[in-house]
Amino acid sequence: MSKDNFILKAEGICKSYRMGQAEVQVLKGVDLAVKEGDFIAVIGASGSGKSTLLHILGALDTPDTGIVRFDGRDLSRQSARGLNRFRNKMVGFVFQFYHLLDELNVLENVFLPAMADKSVIGWLVSRRRVKNRAADLLAQLGLSERANHKPYQLSGGERQRVAIGRALMNEPRVLLADEPTGNLDSETGNGILKIFEELNKAGQTIMMVTHDERIARKAKRIITLADGKISD
Ligand SMILES: Nc1ncnc2c1ncn2[C@@H]1O[C@H](COP(=O)(O)OP(=O)(O)OP(=O)(O)O)[C@@H](O)[C@H]1O
Ligand SMILES: [Mg+2]
Repeated sequence: MSKDNFILKAEGICKSYRMGQAEVQVLKGVDLAVKEGDFIAVIGASGSGKSTLLHILGALDTPDTGIVRFDGRDLSRQSARGLNRFRNKMVGFVFQFYHLLDELNVLENVFLPAMADKSVIGWLVSRRRVKNRAADLLAQLGLSERANHKPYQLSGGERQRVAIGRALMNEPRVLLADEPTGNLDSETGNGILKIFEELNKAGQTIMMVTHDERIARKAKRIITLADGKISD
């Protein structure tokens, strides 16, 4: 834990993309701090850079300038191995379109992140514990009956719950969600938000991107991205 209690901290993040001749400056100096137990919603118009920011915070992308700190440590100074560990263990991602693997069943999709860094022997030793944890998560998410289904046999809301289970598998310090309800009708989306609220109540730190203010209001704190910066 860093001295100031922040898990994730972004300082002066700038990011631009080159499209042919034109350069689009998406983020123009974003400062942001995520504390243990936070539930933050990031809102902003389409194209305002919400996904870009979330990807940078989760080390799926790198800023042009600026620093992302996790527990006070500068992510840009981590080795490739350190970054993989960070992505796999410290953050959990939930995406709008679920990104589940159709070849695997629901239980396997959930425990996949726990296999990622294990040797064959390591897996053999831990698989019972890992599968039990995945089954517990599925029970918590109301999906026990679906454990052996393939993702394509599920509804959108069920798929998103599987994706949440996968994101939680390795007990991440921060859950990062990009439009987690964006592909769902409002009632199903509310169910997903309920899960987020309960997870947060139990201590899970969450940062969620949405363009829907009604959804953002469920969070404890709202951050608005406009013109490449955070506006209050
Ligand atoms: N890989 C890329 N190459 C070029 N431009 C990109 C790339 N990724 C994003 N952009 C541009 O950066 C801007 C911000 O994109 P981003 O996806 O972060 O926005 P967003 O706020 O998440 O939008 P939405 O609400 O539509 O998801 C957009 O103008 C987009 O076209
Ligand atoms: Mg986006």
